[in-house]
Amino acid sequence: MKSTSSQKSLFLRTLDGQSNDRSTEKRSPAWMMRQAGRYLPEYRAVRKEAGSFLDLCLNPETAIEVTLQPIRRFGFDAAILFSDILIVPLGLGQDLKFVEGRGPVLEALSKGDVLPTFDPIAFDAKVGAVYQTVSGLRTELDADKTTLIGFAGAPWTVATYMVEGGSSKDFAKTKDWAFCQPDTFGKLMDVLVESTIHYLNQQAAAGAEVLKLFDTWAGALSPNQRELWSRKPIERIIAGVRKTNPDIPFIVFARGVGPALTDYDGMSEGLALDTSLAPEWARENLTKANALQGNLDPIALVAGGAALDAEVDRILTAMDGRAHVINLGHGIIPQTPISHVEQFVKRIGL
Ligand code: CP3
Repeated sequence: MKSTSSQKSLFLRTLDGQSNDRSTEKRSPAWMMRQAGRYLPEYRAVRKEAGSFLDLCLNPETAIEVTLQPIRRFGFDAAILFSDILIVPLGLGQDLKFVEGRGPVLEALSKGDVLPTFDPIAFDAKVGAVYQTVSGLRTELDADKTTLIGFAGAPWTVATYMVEGGSSKDFAKTKDWAFCQPDTFGKLMDVLVESTIHYLNQQAAAGAEVLKLFDTWAGALSPNQRELWSRKPIERIIAGVRKTNPDIPFIVFARGVGPALTDYDGMSEGLALDTSLAPEWARENLTKANALQGNLDPIALVAGGAALDAEVDRILTAMDGRAHVINLGHGIIPQTPISHVEQFVKRIGL
């Protein structure tokens, strides 16, 4: 698959701001959040063999294999490193397990507890396999065709898992800590900012060409808390990584913030839209990012048929002439029929 030519991929050109005007038969580059996962029988087979989900993430051979599965099947323009946002707490020494049918379970951190510290050597000893996965992928992928995305969770979202001990509905413990003890919560965020800068720089050194930050739970915060704990830490991470990697493009996904997404506009080359935003609104109001990404409803992909085609067409029409990456507004869900992903791929002209 490897090629030696140095032409920039369609995906990277789009993140530079090049629009893919469909009237001239060009197309938006495409990939899907959580494109490697349980909706694919070949993923379920490797997952079963690997044992635990963490074993799958931390074994470069299996992580490379599952990263490549959706590329082989659908020919997406980007491959995203197969890993998880909770690898950072693991690197910081927090106990982490993925329990079947329940999701992530962490040894919960409480306000008043001794905070984790970041030691790059200890961190890499725990998670260094991820960098091997990235460099292995870089060798496997043809850079002209398939762009390699590295990623991390944004500090707020990662902190919610560290403090709640897993998934949560209201993030009450994390928010309470941030309100009652902003100093110590700020110190926890500092540790996450510092370790995430290191983690992303290591991915870039290993060959990641784009970096994405997932702030899945940004929408749970009130406006001033969101500025403190979601937007600012993201800005600090991007600035920190840029000291070592001045040219690497970022995609920011701040989910659930609604029209306040304008606050995040201009920090990164790509801005990812969740399902709630009208693409017409986004185009009108988010003008600083080079490119917008999104935002098909993952359930439209489950529904399929005429509804799926209509949604895809609506997004592409709204984004025509604007640099745009077609993607979902959130991760693909396990019950998605593969035939509907094929329908999506056909409709976008991949
Ligand atoms: O996009 C990709 O294909 C790359 C891999 C990827 C995974 N998780 C694999 C995964 C990425 C980018 C993530 C990010 C992630 N992880 C986020 C942010 C993005 C989002 O979806 O909002 C969050 C919040 C997590 C935390 C997490 N990981 C939870 C809550 C769970 C359990 C829920 C579930 O779907 O099972 C996971 C597990 C997980 N991460 C799976 C996969 C493929 C499923 C594990 C399995 O195979 O059993």
